[in-house]
Parts: sequence; structure tokens; C-alpha cells
Amino acid sequence: MTDVSTPELRLAGKRIVITGGARGIGGAIAARYVAEGARVSILDRLAAEGAAHAASLGADFHEVDLLDPLDAERATKAAVEGLGGVDVLVNSAGILRFTPLLDLTVKDWNETFSINTRAMLTTMQVCVRSMIAEGTSGKIINLASMAAKKGGAGEGAYPASKAAVVALTRQAALEWGVHGITANSLCPGYILTEMGAATRTQEKIDAWSAYSPLGRLGEPSDVASVALFLASSDSDYLTGQAINVTGGMVMH
Ligand SMILES: NC(=O)c1ccc[n+]([C@@H]2O[C@H](COP(=O)([O-])OP(=O)(O)OC[C@H]3O[C@@H](n4cnc5c(N)ncnc54)[C@H](O)[C@@H]3O)[C@@H](O)[C@H]2O)c1
Repeated sequence: MTDVSTPELRLAGKRIVITGGARGIGGAIAARYVAEGARVSILDRLAAEGAAHAASLGADFHEVDLLDPLDAERATKAAVEGLGGVDVLVNSAGILRFTPLLDLTVKDWNETFSINTRAMLTTMQVCVRSMIAEGTSGKIINLASMAAKKGGAGEGAYPASKAAVVALTRQAALEWGVHGITANSLCPGYILTEMGAATRTQEKIDAWSAYSPLGRLGEPSDVASVALFLASSDSDYLTGQAINVTGGMVMH
């Protein structure tokens, strides 16, 4: 007889905090995780969009401006308390500002690094303290970018901030492995979200698609599939890696 039993949910009961989960890649990861049985708490500065997406998924939502370290700490603590602990942290919030290096100001540099990199330190500190106190293993997934390995025209401070994410994530893997905590970064290629939408032309889409042996740009669901693997027990022996999800645009 054919086995028609429901396949086991891969994240059943997992408590997961996702920054930048109101939309885009973080939003798709939140939806995929909920579909696999996780309890999710979304942190984002987009209050209306974030609350609506969370409500549609049955997830929690906390408004936050990650530019502010105290607000980042407050909101992450509230998310962890709301879930009664945390098993997985996904840092997806990020910004991309196109500025040639000669025009880049210290303010731009600091804001990009504060949101893209330093905020990850704060959310990791809050979540890892909770994971260690509970004595359970945990998983950290940080969104870097292929820009960490290969810059892009006019991307300003963004590539450096994402290279720093890769290095910070390796350090997290080194320091917290002893507690059974893994940390990996994801390096997406060109993914079709609001990020970069303002400057996206058909010409650009064609040019970037040609960099991929698969001949297309990525969808948020392409990244969510790999993020599901990283949150699941299938990736238990994987840590300190910077995994490309670029359709082969970058292969190192
Ligand atoms: N889209 C791409 O092509 C691409 C490629 C590589 C890496 N990434 C990375 O993936 C992550 C998600 O990007 P996306 O494409 O979904 O972009 P997006 O703009 O659709 O989503 C980013 C989310 O981060 C939130 N956010 C930004 N600043 C914030 C702040 N100060 N406080 C709280 N929340 C804030 C936004 O409100 C938004 O919901 C980012 O870290 C980005 O750098 C994206």
C-alpha cells in the first residue's frame, strides 16, 4: 500500500526571530518557516507592512529601528520573551544605497554599517544569551550578499558592510560552536525584491541574468529554500560558511 501519511514538518515547534521579515527575502523566509511548523516573530521598521504580513502568517510582530542599538536590543528581547525562548535567528534587515565611493559620506558609511552589520551583533548577543541560558543548541543565519565577494557598480559602503557580515558570522561560529550553536551567512545574488527596484530596468535585468549560467535572476523563494535547510537539523554539521545563492553568478 502507498504511504499517504503527512510528511513531517521540518521546523515543528521551533521558535524563530527574523529581522527584516516584513517583506522581500525575510518575508519569504518567515512564510516558509511558518509553513514548516515554526513559531515566528518578525522585527521590522515597516510597521503597517510588517504587522499585516505577520498577521497573515499567525506570527508575532515588533516594530524596531535597527539603526538604534537600544531599540534593536529592546525589540529583540521582546521577540524572544514573546516566543518563550529562541532556537533560530535570521538577520535579513538591510539597506543598499547607490553612491560612488568619491561621494560617500561618513554618515552614509555609518548608517549602512549600523543596519547591515552592527545590528546583527546586537540581535545575536540577545538571542545567543538566551540560547546559552536554556542550554539548547541554536542556529544563526545572517544575510550577507554576493557583494561580499564581488563588488557592484556604485554600491558604496554595501559590499564592505556585507564582507563584514561574513567575517562576523565566522567569528560567531568560532565562539559559540562550543554551545552547539551554528552560524552561517547567505550570499544571495540579484534577487527580485524592493531592494534595487528603483533602478531596475529591463536592460539591467538582461545584463544581470546573463551572469548566471541558469540565465535568470533569483526569487525570494530561492533564498528561503536554502534558509529552510540552514534552520533545519539537516544542516547540523555546517557552520562558519558563506553560502552563495546566486544562480552561479559567483562560484567561490
Ligand atoms: N535583493 C537582493 O538582490 C539581495 C541580494 C543580496 C543580499 N540581499 C540582502 O538580503 C536582505 C534582505 O533584502 P531584500 O532584498 O529582502 O530587501 P527589502 O528591502 O525588500 O527588505 C529589507 C527589509 O529590511 C528592513 N529594514 C531596513 N532597514 C531597517 C531598519 N533600520 N530597522 C528595521 N528594519 C529595517 C526593511 O524595512 C525591509 O523590510 C538584506 O540584508 C539584503 O542586503 C539582497
